[in-house]
Amino acid sequence: MRHLMSPLDFSVEELDKLLDLANDIEKNPDKYAHACAGKKLATCFYEPSTRTRLSFEAAMLNLGGSVLGFSEAGSSSAAKGESVSDTIRVISCYADICAIRHPKEGAALVASQKSLIPVINAGDGGHQHPTQTLTDLLTIRSLKGRLSDITIGLCGDLKFGRTVHSLINALIRYKNVHFVLISPEELRIPSYIRDDVLRANQVEFEEVERLEDAMTRLDVLYMTRVQRERFFNEEDYIRLKDYYILTKAKMELAKEDMLVLHPLPRVNEISVEVDSDPRAAYFKQAQYGVYVRMALILTLLGIQVD
Ligand code: NCD
Repeated sequence: MRHLMSPLDFSVEELDKLLDLANDIEKNPDKYAHACAGKKLATCFYEPSTRTRLSFEAAMLNLGGSVLGFSEAGSSSAAKGESVSDTIRVISCYADICAIRHPKEGAALVASQKSLIPVINAGDGGHQHPTQTLTDLLTIRSLKGRLSDITIGLCGDLKFGRTVHSLINALIRYKNVHFVLISPEELRIPSYIRDDVLRANQVEFEEVERLEDAMTRLDVLYMTRVQRERFFNEEDYIRLKDYYILTKAKMELAKEDMLVLHPLPRVNEISVEVDSDPRAAYFKQAQYGVYVRMALILTLLGIQVD
């Protein structure tokens, strides 16, 4: 039985296969419409979510399966003091696969150790968000045609942004990927990524504070929201929340084929006037999230469709 805790749980070859499967699902959805008939996905969300939970549910429904679950800790037995380990043991009796999101780093891993069914980490605190990374990889590969030979700018809250941590972990395995880390001093990438992932693997990266200084060189710009819920005080959040705002004027500095990605939700960091720019790919990215989660469910359940 396999779980997904981090993008590194799959080898590059396995990832390629998964992304190929997602592209085939996009092209031939009817072929997969009954692949999970009789199977159930549980979504256990102890933290807010729109895209991740609903795209998981849409993915399972598109595969002909069913879904059950809860969308806030307060409506589950967590409110009565039940541990994640006990909850997952019980959910293992009700479902065939489970996606879990929790505010504590490592919660999904704890769940996977007690689970009798495959567990997918749908976000654990400020740590990792591997299925967003699968979505990001599928989007970049589908729209750019490659995952190697790119300069990617990651902009915003690099400290608490789990999507950024997972994406860096995944992209360092491709050739000639150059990272430009764009953040205010206080929201710089944590040392467990800078030292233990980037430096330890001799990956080229630079850290800059001004988006304008990076813009002209980027093939992909990955914007992120300042993660309000992970701040210790509201004043710091208010001071930093509008540090970066991507506008039409800033987009004029960028390459003609630069992609703008964002895991969403957006707050103010991308002005809505950018949405009509053909380089804005964040809503397409959300669509790719469904295909890649369909591919992931099939892969973890060991279901092959010919
Ligand atoms: C992200 C998350 O939950 O980390 N959202 C998502 O799943 N698409 C990004 C965010 O909340 O800022």
